[in-house]
Amino acid sequence: MRVLAPAKINWTLEVLGRREDGYHELRSILQTIGLCDTVTIKPAGEVKVAFSGRVEGLDGLGGNLVQAAYRVATGVFNRADAVSIEVIKRIPAAGGLGGGSSDAAAVLRGLNALWGPVDRWRLREAAAELGSDVPFFIECGTVMVAGRGEELTILPEAPRKHLVLALARDETPAKTARMFAALQPQDFLDGAQSLALMLRFNHRLEYDDGHLCNSFERAGYTQLPHLAKTRDLLHGCGKEAHLAGAGPTLFAIFDEEGDAETCASGLRVQGVDAISVRTLASIEALRVEAIQADG
Ligand code: C5P
Repeated sequence: MRVLAPAKINWTLEVLGRREDGYHELRSILQTIGLCDTVTIKPAGEVKVAFSGRVEGLDGLGGNLVQAAYRVATGVFNRADAVSIEVIKRIPAAGGLGGGSSDAAAVLRGLNALWGPVDRWRLREAAAELGSDVPFFIECGTVMVAGRGEELTILPEAPRKHLVLALARDETPAKTARMFAALQPQDFLDGAQSLALMLRFNHRLEYDDGHLCNSFERAGYTQLPHLAKTRDLLHGCGKEAHLAGAGPTLFAIFDEEGDAETCASGLRVQGVDAISVRTLASIEALRVEAIQADG
């Protein structure tokens, strides 16, 4: 089985406050985008996980999450056939684009195609054991999440946009936990922006920079001062810069592919690792291909 594992951005990411269980209550609208890892699952003599491609900064964590997904799946499907799992990485690790979570969800979706199917609820439940962002990647497309990320409301696909991503990685351990810990009361939002954007998507209305928000914006620029330079370069393309997840990747939105490509190539000339991608609908993101045993 060959499964796509797309990256995501958050159109909105509102942290409402700290919860008793140590997590934070969220309202966020997530979107899959056309920067994808590829996960290939094949029957094998023993369980093997291998990564290739953009593996910098991929410490034990990425591999552990893929292995954990396999373990969780053996419980869901009540099977323990040995498989090899090969992940071709294109999504930078610890960039705010959800790469590790998406790989884990791709393993669950791939094993569901091989060993299942079980219903989506069961897969989402299994995904929630693996991390807060993993249930979203069971569905992909445009989804509003609540709770710590595991309560999903599937939305109509957001009208297509082109994005410039200024790719970056945060080298420090436990980046996400550290970014949540850096939030201050003034960063907490009330979820109204996510509701408003959900209504726009439900009515298939256009959207722009003014509809986006991210609770990590202040903490991001405070913790990572060098981000301001990339933000200014995006401003130079005439665009707002938005943080992907808890960062440090930044993105800008465009209606026209050509404008996004011009901006990305301009940024590359200035030393930024910039690419242009488009939003990816769930039907495109959820492609699972059967491959030949030697394929
Ligand atoms: O769920 P996941 O393992 O991806 O979360 C990583 C860390 O991010 C958690 O240990 C927690 O510190 C923080 N987090 C949070 N609230 C959320 C999601 C994550 O505080 N809703």
